[in-house]
Amino acid sequence: MKILVTGGAGYKGTVLTRKLLEQGYDVTLLDNFMYGYEPVMHLANNPKLTIIKHDIRNGIPDMAKYDVIFHLAGISGFPACASNPHSAQLINVEAIRLIARDLSHGQMLINASTTSMYGKSGMPCNEETAVDPVSTYAQTKLAAEEILHDRENVVSLRFATVFGFSTRMRMDLMINDFVYKAVKERVIVLFDSFAKRTFIHVEDAADCYIFTMKNFDRMRSNVFNAGGNNLNFSKEEIAQKIKNKVDFSIINSEVKDKDLRHFIVNFDKIAGLGFKPARTVEDGIDELLRIYSFYEYYSHFRTI
Ligand SMILES: NC(=O)c1ccc[n+]([C@@H]2O[C@H](COP(=O)([O-])OP(=O)(O)OC[C@H]3O[C@@H](n4cnc5c(N)ncnc54)[C@H](O)[C@@H]3O)[C@@H](O)[C@H]2O)c1
Repeated sequence: MKILVTGGAGYKGTVLTRKLLEQGYDVTLLDNFMYGYEPVMHLANNPKLTIIKHDIRNGIPDMAKYDVIFHLAGISGFPACASNPHSAQLINVEAIRLIARDLSHGQMLINASTTSMYGKSGMPCNEETAVDPVSTYAQTKLAAEEILHDRENVVSLRFATVFGFSTRMRMDLMINDFVYKAVKERVIVLFDSFAKRTFIHVEDAADCYIFTMKNFDRMRSNVFNAGGNNLNFSKEEIAQKIKNKVDFSIINSEVKDKDLRHFIVNFDKIAGLGFKPARTVEDGIDELLRIYSFYEYYSHFRTI
């Protein structure tokens, strides 16, 4: 089976590629390496890995030769899309049109989508809940889902916010950011501390992609929330979990957060098929506390 991971040099893509190689698959990693080559250097010597430097805005070269395409390449997250809306449209939406055009009947496409499209209601949301994309990021990810909607050989996974260690570290993600601030700055300022989000460890996210590939016939032509019911927490609750392990101050700001997201996500649909995340937020905090003992290194990756 020939597998392509677009965005394979990214935060989730590096972990997914490593796991696929560990399980013996032939993998092609496609990326434009906008965050450099360092995240994939530990994989480059694997004879089962092919690395292609390519811009997804031009579609996927020789796309017909892949049995499975994990599509992760994109401009990911609220801050990156807010500062580059034009690129977000081209990369997150227009590139999907090319992929959808070239996708053949026998291929599997697993699309990286997001729970961010559930908006700001604060209410429990499942896959049937009306979406409310309140950011450029969520709008582009919803547009991508809609382009793929009718295809019988596509699964869109609406991921929770990911946390934990990857060789392409993302410091803008909430738990990764909060733990860094607790360790380095000894203070976290909370905006809209009540706001609820949902989380998944990066290793579980990669396992969820592979679960989807292995259960594709049960999941095809469908959208799934990807996470766990036990991983919905407010910002305040996340900060307190970190405070249980390291001493720092929490300041509640009166200023409203520009990021309006506030929702509780239900994951029964994917749990019903047998996928549940194995790692807790506490596991992730412990891991981040270990890696941030080299915080001078991680300070280079801070974008917010
Ligand atoms: N991390 C999360 O919390 C999260 C949650 C839900 C969904 N997602 C989605 O999962 C996917 C991967 O997210 P991530 O956290 O790994 O982000 P990331 O930014 O670390 O990875 C994205 C990768 O895409 C590559 N890329 C960007 N533009 C490209 C282009 N024009 N051509 C080729 N490659 C390009 C980047 O170089 C990067 O390696 C994204 O589609 C994102 O929207 C992420």
